[in-house]
Amino acid sequence: MADIRLEGVGHSYDGGATWALKPMTWTWRSARAYALLGPSGCGKTTLLNIISGLLTPTVGRIWFDDREVTGVPTAGRNIAQVFQFPVLYEEMSVYDNLAFPLRNRKYPKNEVDQRVRQVSRLLGLDDLLRRRSRRLDPGRQQIVSLGRGLVRSQVAAVLLDEPLTVVDPALKWTLRSKLKEIHRDTGHTLIYVTHDQTEALTFADEVVVLNEGEMVQAGEPAELFLSPAHEFVGHFIGSPGMNMLPAEIVGGVVCVGQADVGTAAGQSGDGLPPGPVRIGVRPEFVRVTGARTSPGVAARVTGIDRMGAYDLVHTRVNGHPVIARTAAGSACRPDTVEFLHFPEERTFLFRDEVRCGSLAPLNGRDQA
Ligand SMILES: Nc1ncnc2c1ncn2[C@@H]1O[C@H](COP(=O)(O)OP(=O)(O)O)[C@@H](O)[C@H]1O
Ligand SMILES: [Mg+2]
Repeated sequence: MADIRLEGVGHSYDGGATWALKPMTWTWRSARAYALLGPSGCGKTTLLNIISGLLTPTVGRIWFDDREVTGVPTAGRNIAQVFQFPVLYEEMSVYDNLAFPLRNRKYPKNEVDQRVRQVSRLLGLDDLLRRRSRRLDPGRQQIVSLGRGLVRSQVAAVLLDEPLTVVDPALKWTLRSKLKEIHRDTGHTLIYVTHDQTEALTFADEVVVLNEGEMVQAGEPAELFLSPAHEFVGHFIGSPGMNMLPAEIVGGVVCVGQADVGTAAGQSGDGLPPGPVRIGVRPEFVRVTGARTSPGVAARVTGIDRMGAYDLVHTRVNGHPVIARTAAGSACRPDTVEFLHFPEERTFLFRDEVRCGSLAPLNGRDQA
């Protein structure tokens, strides 16, 4: 196990015309479980292949603890990688497939057997050990591939690239909790790639969010939910995602149309220059009141989704959609006007998609 440090690492597939991965500096800390989360095409596989050595980055250097590995091929990096689709010796038995990475590295015979049986038990493969891999369905083959990735006790890291894509949905949950269990037992550094926020949030100690080749935020699940640093994190995480409402800073006050919703506080508590800004607030924190509140904004209700456990009240503020999540049985009706309140401690301000500050109380200023 090692800290894996990327120093200005970036990759271009087209001779520098575009970055598939923009140069980034980041350390994957030893023994942590990470999720690498982002939509299809954002650079997740590129980043994983750079760490494992399948791909040499266009720029930057990679370190495993104090050892530079930038030019070291995969075989010299001691990484286990599990791909999206099964990678197996089809003519070998499940047992031999699981044993292969260990025999290849000259583990003693009894340790091979012990490790294979341990992994097979964890992944529910005991009854299939003698079966030829070719005879398994793709989902089972993928579980064997997963086992091959997890069977070695000494690895710098285990990289999993959307490993449960071809696995039956009912099995996915079981396997993901097994992975967590295995992580607790072995203390391996795990990097789990997914485009699914639920998978990422339920699996990882820390989630790294990638968008268009750029790492936009890394943090614990709660941090990404409560304190998004980038608009992308606001709308990619959460269901529905964060509301983004265009506003204007005038004389330090954040205005939506004619309504003042608070004052603007910069990241270090100072003010923000005047001009356009976007207010970001999650549906969970928007408060709906029938009467005009100060500060608050008028909102026309356009529809209500009754979700059973809660309601989603869809509104328009100044022509822009804003959703509020309320307790079930909301009394809101379509085509009525409600007032929305944005709590300061949960409302952020964004410029050029990046968080530049947050909302602060109006400090006794009267609403316009
Ligand atoms: N071998 C390749 N040659 C050229 N372009 C590639 C290659 N692999 C990936 N890309 C491009 O790089 C970008 C990132 O791809 P990838 O890392 O596979 O994303 P993800 O795994 O997040 O879906 C995409 O625009 C993709 O089309
Ligand atoms: Mg990929």
